[in-house]
Amino acid sequence: MATPPNVLTPEEIEHFLNHGFVVVKDCFPTGPGTLVQRWIDESWEKEGLNRHDPDSWPTRPLVMKRTEEVSVREFAPRAYAAIVQLMGGPDRLLNPDIRWGNNFLANFAVGRDEPWVAPGPDSFSGANWHVDGNWFMHYLDGPEQGILGIVCWEKMVHQGGATFIAPDSIGPVARYLADRPEGVWPDEFPWDDLIRQCSDFREAVADAGDFILTHPLMLHRGSQNLKRVPRYMNNSVVSFKEPLCFNRPDGAYSAIEQCILRGLGVDSLDFEIKGERRHLTREDREARRAARL
Ligand SMILES: [Fe+2]
Repeated sequence: MATPPNVLTPEEIEHFLNHGFVVVKDCFPTGPGTLVQRWIDESWEKEGLNRHDPDSWPTRPLVMKRTEEVSVREFAPRAYAAIVQLMGGPDRLLNPDIRWGNNFLANFAVGRDEPWVAPGPDSFSGANWHVDGNWFMHYLDGPEQGILGIVCWEKMVHQGGATFIAPDSIGPVARYLADRPEGVWPDEFPWDDLIRQCSDFREAVADAGDFILTHPLMLHRGSQNLKRVPRYMNNSVVSFKEPLCFNRPDGAYSAIEQCILRGLGVDSLDFEIKGERRHLTREDREARRAARL
């Protein structure tokens, strides 16, 4: 696929390298008459929910089924271009035909009955700090989760279920993985230890149509929705074709690789895994859970 034009300015790239995230504003049309509005309107019926009765809304997160999808390249070309730019070009993507769909992660009223837990190392009962990826063994150079994108289908307001992020978490998570070339199971990360090494916590509020790109090693968690305004988002995962490389003779590091090198405080790194790079099935995860009980 052809390389899209760069959309992130040098300042935005520098922001990503320093803080592990960048926001691309106004990436796709929202509001009356748009595809997004139709998907949202239809979601109430799909889920059997009454939009006029907030007391009846579920206090657990909803994962909706994908019944329709769009090509991100056509639907949100600037979001697409930003993904490609941060990952180092379309040739580095496992599948450059990125798709988004109406499989919303919806937060209608999660944690509504608990006191507000502000951005910080603490969690509430509904969500813990983590990095994504329960479907693969984690290595520092793992290609599976190339970037974590937050698609904001609706406005994300303060105390309205916006994702919390810890921009200075990439260093601690990268160090943990760098010390474990034998691989880390998704349930093995000491999330609490890792988040307590961080001091920068933010609530990723955004407008409808925004796309927030975050580094795959960014610790994040869901938040409570106290606002009686449903929050609709998706996590957009894009994989690399090849493992990351931290020792490129030509210096052509992707921004994803550069963030990790900065987090580790080195210019380059010889890193070689000592385990098996593999995807985990549900059976793998269940067998491991059973073995630990
Ligand atoms: Fe997550």
